Amino acid sequence: MLGFTAFWLVSAPRPLPASAIPPHTGNIANGEILYIAGGCRNCHKPNADQAGLDPNLPSGGFPLKTPIGVLYPPNLTPDAQTGIGSWSDLDFVNAVQRGISKSGQHLIPAFPYTSYAAMPVEDVLDIKAYLMSLPPVASPRRGADIPMAFLLRRGLGLWKFVGLDAAPWRPDAAQSPSWNRGSYLVNGPGHCGECHTPRNLIMARDNSRFMMGGPHPEGEGKVPSLHGLVETGRYKDQKDLVLALQNGEVFGYEHMSSGGMGQVQANMAKLPQADVEAIAEYLISLK
Ligand code: HEC
Ligand code: HEC
Repeated sequence: MLGFTAFWLVSAPRPLPASAIPPHTGNIANGEILYIAGGCRNCHKPNADQAGLDPNLPSGGFPLKTPIGVLYPPNLTPDAQTGIGSWSDLDFVNAVQRGISKSGQHLIPAFPYTSYAAMPVEDVLDIKAYLMSLPPVASPRRGADIPMAFLLRRGLGLWKFVGLDAAPWRPDAAQSPSWNRGSYLVNGPGHCGECHTPRNLIMARDNSRFMMGGPHPEGEGKVPSLHGLVETGRYKDQKDLVLALQNGEVFGYEHMSSGGMGQVQANMAKLPQADVEAIAEYLISLK
């Protein structure tokens, strides 16, 4: 009984206080860039069987297979009943940076809030401003196909205790502004490490093997290391890597298409040129 009480107390969700939300006017253009870099639509798009729903809008429902079962990422359009239309800024920041739902439950970290936690709150509010500028779509949430979901969600509180690093991203003063921009996009919104950094026994990212590749989180195959991309001859130079990120298979770059990387690459193609150059500059510096 004591053990259970301790479990219950330690695993309780710890939402951010209202004071965590600074006064801020949402910047929709910045929000759109971060939404693209963050790949939000890739997971939150509708399923093909939901006839009549615009696949370009994040109305939710596309199945996301994980080792514990299938999740259906919910509706992020501003519909008041089924989307985020009635959410406060605090509700949104708690979901995206602490993995706590509006109803106060733990969200499953297949949603990469573990990386989004590194973003400044202002950037997260800009993503919300962008989402609120989209047309609302009514599309009810579909519950996860996961056994014992309630207990699992509660148990995630224990995991967050050790597995959720909520430290904000910090610039490195010894590096150029573009390198820092690249580092931010890769480690914050881009959540590249969620696949490219292997996980330890408790399924948290093992930062002692930062970006060194490993088994694929969604099951099949391996994710390559991002160290020494030029030294090992995979890319000639920064320019070559920029072309690969922007064009992938179309330009004959073979290692940008499978295991979810194809969707990431398609997002890179939509980012401003300077941002892709910054990402390439940062990646190439990983020796
Ligand atoms: C790899 C897939 C993936 C990506 C990428 C992703 N999400 Fe999600 N998201 C999920 C899943 C899965 C859930 C539901 C988790 C659960 O039910 O515990 C979720 C839940 C949410 C929720 C909570 C919604 C609710 O109704 O409870 C918000 C808000 C959200 N995501 C916003 C975002 C934003 C903003 C981005 C981009 C910056 C993003 N997501 C990117 C998979 C993803
Ligand atoms: C959903 C998992 C996932 C995410 C998220 C992801 N990657 Fe990848 N990445 C892969 C996989 C899998 C491959 C190998 C694909 C192939 O061989 O077709 C790959 C390949 C690559 C390659 C080619 C490496 C080589 O050896 O040529 C680069 C560069 C790369 N990713 C960069 C990124 C960047 C930058 C991000 C973040 C913006 C990112 N990845 C996010 C899974 C992911």
